[in-house]
Amino acid sequence: MFSIKQVMRLKPFMALRFASSQSSPKTGIVMLNMGGPQSSENVHDYLLGIMTDKDMIQFPFFQNKLGPWIAKRRTPEVKQKYDEIGGGSPIFKWTEKQGQLLCKQLDEQCPESAPHKNYTAFRYVTPFTDEAFNEVLKDGVKRIVVFSQYPQYSCATSGSSFNAIYRHFRKIGFPKDIKLSVIDRWSTNPLLAKTFADLIRKELKQLPEDKQKEAIILFSAHSIPLKTVNRGDSYPSEVGATVQMVMQELNYCNPYQLVWQSKVGPLPWLGPFTDDALKGYVKQGKKTFLLVPIAFVNEHIETLHEMDIEYCKDLAGEIGVKHIRRVPTPNDHPLFIDALTGIVKDHLKNGGGVSHKFLNRCPHCTNVNCYNSKKWYADICNRT
Ligand code: FES
Repeated sequence: MFSIKQVMRLKPFMALRFASSQSSPKTGIVMLNMGGPQSSENVHDYLLGIMTDKDMIQFPFFQNKLGPWIAKRRTPEVKQKYDEIGGGSPIFKWTEKQGQLLCKQLDEQCPESAPHKNYTAFRYVTPFTDEAFNEVLKDGVKRIVVFSQYPQYSCATSGSSFNAIYRHFRKIGFPKDIKLSVIDRWSTNPLLAKTFADLIRKELKQLPEDKQKEAIILFSAHSIPLKTVNRGDSYPSEVGATVQMVMQELNYCNPYQLVWQSKVGPLPWLGPFTDDALKGYVKQGKKTFLLVPIAFVNEHIETLHEMDIEYCKDLAGEIGVKHIRRVPTPNDHPLFIDALTGIVKDHLKNGGGVSHKFLNRCPHCTNVNCYNSKKWYADICNRT
C-alpha cells in the first residue's frame, strides 16, 4: 500500500487514479443497452424477455401466451447462431471495456465529478437494469448519468430501457440526495461520425485498388416495424442523420445507401432490407460492397453472424458478389472513446438534466408506460 506521503509525490494524474480506485465513486455512468446472451444456454431467457416486452414488440393479441411460444420455437435456431460465433455475445465485454476507458478519461478531464464508475445495464440479460441500479445505490454515488448506448433513439430499444428504469424506481423510490440525468441520443456527434469514417477508409483500402472507387457503401441498421415508424419513432431519421454526417466526413467519396436488417415475423418492417438491396444491386451489375453497421457500437450477433456469415459469406457467394467487406463496429477505437468522453463531459458541464426531445412522446403513442415514465424523468431530472 502507498503511504499518504507517497501518494502526494505521485504525478497529479496518477494521484487521481489512485484516489479513484481507492475511494467510492462520486458519479455513476450507467450504460444502457439491450445485451446479448453470454452463453448459448441463456438464449431462451433472452428471447423470452424480448418477446414479452410490450415496449419492444406488440403482438395484436395474447402477447403473454404468444411471446413465450415464439421464444421457445426460435431458441434452437438462435442458439445455433450463437454457437457459430463462439458460443455467446461479446456485447458485455465491449460495453464494460468502453465504460472503463470512458471513466478513466473522465477522471482525468473532469476532476470535479471524479471518481467516475461505469455500470452496465442490459434490458434482456444480466446485468439487468435493476441489478445495475442496485449496485449504483450500494456504492453510494452522488450523481447518476444514464447514458444510452444506442446513438439513435428508438422507443422500442432505448425507450424500453428507460421505461424499465422508471418501473424499478417506482417500486423502490428514488433517493432524494442523488442527482439523476439522462443522455438519450447522440446520432450527430461529430466524433462518432469521424470514428465510422476512419473505419470505412481503412476497410476501403483492403479492397483491390481498382475496385475501391466503385464500392457501394451499404449502411445497415436494425429495422423496426412500420407500425413503430408510423407512430412517430425518431429512429429512422436519426440513423439517416448519422449516415449523412459520416458521408460528409468522407467527402462523399463513394456511392452509398441506407438499408435495414434483422426483420422478424410476418408484419411489414422498414426497408429496403440489406439482403434484398444486395440482390437488387447485383442485378444492376454492381459487384463490390462495404457493409457498415451504423447503429451498433459494439460487435454482437447482428454483426458477427447476420452480416459476416449470412450476408458477406453465404448470400454473397450465392448471388455472385465479387468483393464484399464488413466494417468493424467502433468497439474501443480511440476516437470513439473520445466521443463517449466528450458527450458525458459536455453533459456534466451543462448541468445534466434531460432533453426536451426525450420528454416529448411520439405523436401516436398510446403506451401508458411512456406517459408515466416521461413524467417521472421530468420530475426527477429537473429537481435541483
Ligand atoms: Fe414513442 Fe411511447 S411509443 S413515446
